[in-house]
Amino acid sequence: MKRALIILLALSGTLASCYYDIEEDIYPGNGACDTNGATYSSSVLPALQSNGCLGCHSGSTPSGNISLEGYNNVRTAALNGTLYGAISFSPGYPPMPQGGNKMSACNINRIKAWIDAGAPNN
Ligand code: HEC
Repeated sequence: MKRALIILLALSGTLASCYYDIEEDIYPGNGACDTNGATYSSSVLPALQSNGCLGCHSGSTPSGNISLEGYNNVRTAALNGTLYGAISFSPGYPPMPQGGNKMSACNINRIKAWIDAGAPNN
């Protein structure tokens, strides 16, 4: 009886992880991309960090003279349109990350949702 319980527990763990994998396969991009909860700290900052933006846009001599270090600098780029223009590879803006791959559509959508909400410090 005890053994059956252990097997059951192990099995339910396996099923749960399979379900998670399958969900991601079925909904690439949009389904897995909830833009509603997009905030500066949970979406924008991690995306800038993981896409190498801060490697060039921080310190005393940031690339293009654009610092993305700290909320206020990111907010400025967000509200003047250059942040979204650059990450969405829009005509008239230098595509960012420079020399790198475009951010995932989900990250771009989340950043856009945050900008559209007025780029709050959340
Ligand atoms: C390898 C260095 C490098 C990386 C990595 C990089 N940038 Fe840049 N970025 C630059 C340079 C250089 C410029 C100035 C380019 C120009 O004006 O043509 C620039 C300009 C910009 C601008 C100003 C655009 C404008 O229209 O004035 C923004 C916003 C920007 N980058 C955001 C980002 C973001 C967001 C990321 C990460 C996704 C990123 N950058 C990654 C080097 C980099």
